[in-house]
Amino acid sequence: MERTLSIIKPDAVAKGVIGKILDRFESAGLRVAATKKIQLTRQDAEAFYAIHAERPFFNDLVDFMISGPVVVSVLEGEGAVLKNRDLMGATDPKEAEAGTIRADFAENIDANAVHGSDSAENAVNEIHFFFADREIS
Ligand code: CMP
Repeated sequence: MERTLSIIKPDAVAKGVIGKILDRFESAGLRVAATKKIQLTRQDAEAFYAIHAERPFFNDLVDFMISGPVVVSVLEGEGAVLKNRDLMGATDPKEAEAGTIRADFAENIDANAVHGSDSAENAVNEIHFFFADREIS
């Protein structure tokens, strides 16, 4: 059994598609082991995306991620990391396959509806960034 971290980003929260996105996960056999809606601070977003600190899009990414509340969730299931990435589709919604979350709900590469961990190892760190063990079940 594997776990991954999902973030429903400010664009998708503002559009009112939290339930539709969580339904994609559950319908694909991923269990929601934890979930909460939070407003990230600039410090939170900079720390979470520290790996991208030198990339040219970093400041825009941080500004966007604090532009409104997000929904962070722990998804659990067999092959959860890859399954979630398949459900999300490509980072750039223009390249995302039809029927994926980003193809259906995202506007552009910054406002791309969702984030998902890219490996099981990063998932452990990303989950601990947002959740205490007692919040996950
Ligand atoms: P996410 O999976 O949250 O990880 C980093 C985010 O940076 C990514 O989704 C995109 O929303 C955003 N981003 C903006 N420009 C780029 C880019 N050129 N390559 C990758 N990610 C980008």
